[in-house]
Amino acid sequence: MRSWPLPLQPRFIAYTAVVVITAILLVDEIEFFPSIYAALLLVPFGALVLIGTIDLVQKKHAVLRNYPLTAHIRFILEEIRPEIRQYFLESEKDGTPFSRDKRAIVYQRAKQALDKRPFGTQNDVYSSGYEWLHHSIAPKPVAKEPFRLVIGGPDCTKPYSASIFNISAMSFGALSPNAVRALNIGAKKGNFAHDTGEGGYSPYHREHGGDIIWEIGSGYFSCRNGDGTFCAEKFEQAARCDQVKMVELKLSQGAKPGHGGVLPGAKVNREIAATRGVPVGVDCISPSRHSAFATPIEMLQFIATMRRLSGGKPAGFKLCVGHQWEFLAICKAMLETGIYPDFIVIDGKEGGTGAAPLEFTDHLGMPLREGLNFVHNALIGINARDRIRLGASGKIISAFDIARVMALGADWCNAARGFMFALGCIQSLSCHTDRCPTGVSTQDRARQRALVIPDKSERVFNFHRSTIESVAELVAAAGLDHPDEFAPAHFSRRVSPHEVRSFAELYPPLEPGALIAGNGDKRYQAAWAMASAREFRAMPQAA
Ligand SMILES: Cc1cc2nc3c(=O)[nH]c(=O)nc-3n(C[C@H](O)[C@H](O)[C@H](O)COP(=O)(O)O)c2cc1C
Ligand code: SF4
Repeated sequence: MRSWPLPLQPRFIAYTAVVVITAILLVDEIEFFPSIYAALLLVPFGALVLIGTIDLVQKKHAVLRNYPLTAHIRFILEEIRPEIRQYFLESEKDGTPFSRDKRAIVYQRAKQALDKRPFGTQNDVYSSGYEWLHHSIAPKPVAKEPFRLVIGGPDCTKPYSASIFNISAMSFGALSPNAVRALNIGAKKGNFAHDTGEGGYSPYHREHGGDIIWEIGSGYFSCRNGDGTFCAEKFEQAARCDQVKMVELKLSQGAKPGHGGVLPGAKVNREIAATRGVPVGVDCISPSRHSAFATPIEMLQFIATMRRLSGGKPAGFKLCVGHQWEFLAICKAMLETGIYPDFIVIDGKEGGTGAAPLEFTDHLGMPLREGLNFVHNALIGINARDRIRLGASGKIISAFDIARVMALGADWCNAARGFMFALGCIQSLSCHTDRCPTGVSTQDRARQRALVIPDKSERVFNFHRSTIESVAELVAAAGLDHPDEFAPAHFSRRVSPHEVRSFAELYPPLEPGALIAGNGDKRYQAAWAMASAREFRAMPQAA
């Protein structure tokens, strides 16, 4: 088949056209009628010829070499695709990780706008996975108290009275200084806790005096020696501050379990370097494993050290459940050493992060409900549940989310992205680029300006208060007095178009002391046999 000469083929025609027009304008300008209009037109056309020629000779993008000029339209559309989806195509139930209606409920509660819905549910209540809470024929009056719990086991001398809903760990570095400040002011006003995240206990966390849970990760930021190891003196000095109410060891988080992190040197400015205790401008590495301990027993000894150095404050750890025998190894170490954490926070696979590889965000780690229920049952199985409080995080936004995880074993809940929405986050999903449009997750000073602290701290406070009020309404509708009375029997899930299961059937409990007695719940016994207090590795099984 006869083909057109290359410059006339459809993919080159735009480039050919601008070359021809530019040539005509040039000849016209030089040889015939010099005119200001032609001269002005020459500028954009000349620029297009230049761009098209660069497209042709560059070697990075095949599509530009084949489609000079026109391929840029594709790149522009790719760039604005998320906005087009979000603004024009997304329905109320669309949008990931959080649907539009989930985000809307946070915005409305944060702004104290009308948060009611007209005309009935938009959910398909007959589709698999639909869940509901059973109400009572005899609802209770709606409680006015702010639901709280005391965290701190027998070895803790400074127990903390915590809200059942708190700000989950997010580092200064991942968040802007203004975001950290607004969160802390909101926490102070609402009397709830603000977790520092593993990026250190920064001046912005300290400025306003809201209750702090100080988290340390494998980088031991704000308490490290020059070689990156844990520094007991620095830890003690900061952990004893009155503002710090609990100390938390981070083992893993659901969005990237088993993965370390690198804050590129370019982002390690003077403030971040001073907070973390690392050099300015040098890549700041959070290793994937801790250097302060290597075995379950050593880990518990480290937690006991954190509690002692903090002056007896509640000390615990956060993890996303991975190998079940590893968590059971920690349980065995508790029994062997008599050292128990005051709390454990279980983060679900569905949790968020500033940035992580796709394989980790999508496929590593146990989802929250399974992880939480596993830990809850394991602690019952070693008779330790009554001395350890359980926190839960993973897409908890609404009062229903809180009630549901409390039924599955949580004593309290944390939210990270929920509070980011309260700060104004619009889920543009560019946290990793330092180009956050709302000033929440950027270190760029010009962009941080967008986040006005007095306004956003009020929204943080409102979101917390309204959510607790909604929890109170659910508690009352279920005929209960406190959210800690929510139990699996209060919830149901549709598992197929014709079948419904109670959470009591879906998440059967373990008998108290069952793991110690070895009395044969198959879900746990195999992993229990593989667990050793002396190492995280699985023990070989007898044939
Ligand atoms: C921007 C961002 C930064 C985070 N940084 C930390 C961190 O430093 N330490 C940590 O344990 N978890 C961190 N997380 C995880 C959250 O604390 C939380 O466990 C997880 O996102 C689940 O809660 P969510 O679904 O309410 O966001 C971070 C999450 C986000 C979104
Ligand atoms: S607005 Fe976008 S970039 Fe900023 S925090 Fe939210 S998701 Fe991240």
